[in-house]
Amino acid sequence: MKVVVIQGPNLNLLGHREQNIYGPMKLEEIHTQMESIAKQNNMEIEFFQSNLEGEIVDRVQECIGDADGIIINPAAYTHTSIAIRDAISAAAMPTVEVHISNINRREEFRAKSLTAPVCTGQISGFGPFGYHLAMISMTQILGEIDAQKQAQAAAQAKAKA
Ligand code: DQA
Repeated sequence: MKVVVIQGPNLNLLGHREQNIYGPMKLEEIHTQMESIAKQNNMEIEFFQSNLEGEIVDRVQECIGDADGIIINPAAYTHTSIAIRDAISAAAMPTVEVHISNINRREEFRAKSLTAPVCTGQISGFGPFGYHLAMISMTQILGEIDAQKQAQAAAQAKAKA
């Protein structure tokens, strides 16, 4: 099972940017923690960060046929990007949207996510721990899909015998 983690604009500045909102943790530290959770669960993981909308669309598209799930923080594009929303929808795989801050208790324009309706679920407001929660959710979702596939294969094998 392979999960791709996609980080949107300005998340490369975590640890420097608005620490009162996003905390002191750097993106690399968050990714190191995610990597160890992936290892514990026999999961392959890749990380990608971009400040450019089109590059994020490209990375989501590259997941098709290559990855089993996406964890994405589209950052400011959450509130503006129909293109990223369409890419997530086209990729049609388990996708967890993460926000470090609680987007519902900030400025009004942040409360609306264009991307959340095409994601499996959204985690918002738990700080960097949200990425940990996303990994737990993804492990559960992919585990259920795998169990379903195995049950189907067993049923088919039984029907043939
Ligand atoms: C964010 C919330 C967005 O509104 C903001 O533009 C970000 C980060 C978060 O993780 O809390 O850049 O996605």
